[in-house]
Amino acid sequence: LGFLSAQAQAQAYPTRSITMIVPFAAGGPTDVIARIVTGHMAQTLGQSIIVENVVGAGGTTATTRASKAANDGYTLITGHMGTHAASVPLYPKLAYHPEKDFEPVGLLAGTPILILARKDFPPKDLKEFITYVKANESKVNAAHAGVGSVSNVSCELLNSIMGVKPIGVPFNGTGPAMNALVGGQVDYMCDQIVNAVPQVNGGTIKAYAVATAERNPSLPNVPTTTEAGLPAFQAQAWNAIFAPKGTPPDVVAKLNGAVVKALDDEGVRKRLLDLGSVIPAAADRTPAALGTLVKNEIAKWTPVLKAVN
Ligand code: MLT
Repeated sequence: LGFLSAQAQAQAYPTRSITMIVPFAAGGPTDVIARIVTGHMAQTLGQSIIVENVVGAGGTTATTRASKAANDGYTLITGHMGTHAASVPLYPKLAYHPEKDFEPVGLLAGTPILILARKDFPPKDLKEFITYVKANESKVNAAHAGVGSVSNVSCELLNSIMGVKPIGVPFNGTGPAMNALVGGQVDYMCDQIVNAVPQVNGGTIKAYAVATAERNPSLPNVPTTTEAGLPAFQAQAWNAIFAPKGTPPDVVAKLNGAVVKALDDEGVRKRLLDLGSVIPAAADRTPAALGTLVKNEIAKWTPVLKAVN
């Protein structure tokens, strides 16, 4: 009977509003992507999806909370390359495991990494930036969203390639970090493109390079790291929805269907593409594909982060 009633519940799902935990501050890349996609998912599912920003410890506070939430499909999390991969080697006492404690639901977007600086930071291009940061290592600072966040991890990689250890300035997300960069209170940052396109186009910050093989259509004048002279720095993050382990397969399938529908919607696609996101191809949108991505990303980042820490 218990099984039947669980199945009946899964079929009726969702009968009330869903909470989407975002592990960083409002207005940052994860928040923006989560809101764009869940706005459409709510229409498909016929229930509202309430975004709750739970900040702290590079996103691991919220992810711990999501891992312990009821596995009934009413509490989900939009995690990313940091919370669901880089956190594993960086937090030896991590209270969750991205693979063991979550059901992958669906990949939302790929997010190329940009090397950004405050508008009046002296270097004009990436080559000058490298020379300048090396010469001023003890004075220069880099903003990030906490240990294990994408901005932290990708700049750790950049800094190790440049052979520098600048001062890190942690924020609760790159939304507030971006405000500090625009305000000139911090020097540079490695951030996901969705957080940077409006500022770069508005001239309120500088972008030295995008760390992907191709230039991004949303910022056609920003060179790739290869073009700008630092081919070793390649980095693209991703954001994805996860449910607590044991969430019924029918519920995960319904949620995944709503993700896929959102990613096929012209309005959603335009908003994501205008911000420089990479929309996942059909084969990359399944729960199984996300599970494989998480496994591969943990394997990829573990040696890199152990080497630089
Ligand atoms: C955010 O939404 O603030 C970011 O995803 C933070 C980060 O991981 O750099």
